[in-house]
Amino acid sequence: MSQSDTLFDYKHIWHPYSSMINPHPCYTVISAKGVYLKLKNGKNIIDGMSSWWSAIHGYNHPVLNKALKKQIRKMSHVMFGGITHPAAIALCRQLISLTPKKLDCVFLSDSGSVSIEVAIKMLIQYWQSLGQTRKTFLTIRNGYHGDTFAAISVSDPNNSFHKIYHNILLKNLFADAPVSSFHDNWNNSDIISFTKIIEKNSYKIAGVILEPIVQGVGGMRFYHPTYLKKIKILCEYYSIPLIFDEIATGFGRTGKIFAFEHADVIPDILCLGKSITGGTITLAATLTSRYIANTISQSETNCFMHGPTYMGNPLACAVANANIKILKTNIWKKQVYNIEKQLSTSLLPLIDHPYVIDVRVLGAIGVVECSRSVNMLLIQKFFVEHGVWIRPFKKLIYIIPPYIISTQALNKLTNVIIDALNHDFLFL
Ligand SMILES: Cc1ncc(COP(=O)(O)O)c(C=O)c1O
Repeated sequence: MSQSDTLFDYKHIWHPYSSMINPHPCYTVISAKGVYLKLKNGKNIIDGMSSWWSAIHGYNHPVLNKALKKQIRKMSHVMFGGITHPAAIALCRQLISLTPKKLDCVFLSDSGSVSIEVAIKMLIQYWQSLGQTRKTFLTIRNGYHGDTFAAISVSDPNNSFHKIYHNILLKNLFADAPVSSFHDNWNNSDIISFTKIIEKNSYKIAGVILEPIVQGVGGMRFYHPTYLKKIKILCEYYSIPLIFDEIATGFGRTGKIFAFEHADVIPDILCLGKSITGGTITLAATLTSRYIANTISQSETNCFMHGPTYMGNPLACAVANANIKILKTNIWKKQVYNIEKQLSTSLLPLIDHPYVIDVRVLGAIGVVECSRSVNMLLIQKFFVEHGVWIRPFKKLIYIIPPYIISTQALNKLTNVIIDALNHDFLFL
């Protein structure tokens, strides 16, 4: 990795949410193992982000690597149209056995955002099959469901890219986000906004979509399980299908295998992604009920109109399979429980810090909400210099470490956060 490579990257390569004029510098990672990312200068830093919720068992995991190698010897890819293969069959069996009984039809796709597009298209087609044109979705503010068009259209109108694409997006309905937090008492006024909107518009709503329990990019908010229970009752009353986006929360992150288990509520469509392959290759899945799948299949076209080239990619399926097998040992439960305990002990006292307005912990997620936005450039440099990889946004410093993280490494992550709060220049 030469100086000219770094310069080439800076000049020519677009990174997520970045500008091509004067972009923030990127840190070059040359390898990763366990919870460590190795930088090109040879320094190992502790990863607090699990590569955006995905690398739950850590990097370079021998079981995941073995699954990939075994599969690559057979085939890396084969088209999924008119062809099936053992890795996809085994994965879909696993997904069906891991999720509620009702969800027994699986559509595989490339990424979280695409799995949301798929869910939305499924419901548009579902209503068409029932002889109705419905294209309006109801969701809640502060949501985030990805960066493709349908996904943006159900993400928070102020917090996403609605303004830029205003005239192109589907016109959807947004209820106020619940205020009762996960650990607080339930306040019934939280459901009023949603109730009013669904009552008034039920005739045209194709589906309700939400991130259960944790609203991620929209503020790292943990809301009350009763909210989900109330929403389920309203959706059932009006016969409106409910989509849960568990792309970030799925596979144990909140202390339950799926966040909806905190509320004991089952969706009609479930979107999974990110950690489905343990952070190795992109893959997502949209699961739905036999009833919805059959209704769609009785439409004019007799089929569901979606089919990405890399759908059911064998490498991704094989490694997802291995990832779920690790999860099925249930080791993650103890790991996530321990992380939750340790994060609570070390982060919750920060509530008394003058720059902190809230601290929250749920499962393997720790959030420090500050009173001022971070200076991204400086705080990123500070974290790396102090040996950790934490990528805050706006006023939120949060960590979602790999489940395998040791007590010492987690201690280091939280200590560096505490240290950062004592440096005024890291905040705007
Ligand atoms: C809740 C949620 N839904 C959907 C997405 C989009 O997933 P992807 O980035 O794989 O397209 C994300 C990504 O952060 C997410 O957090």
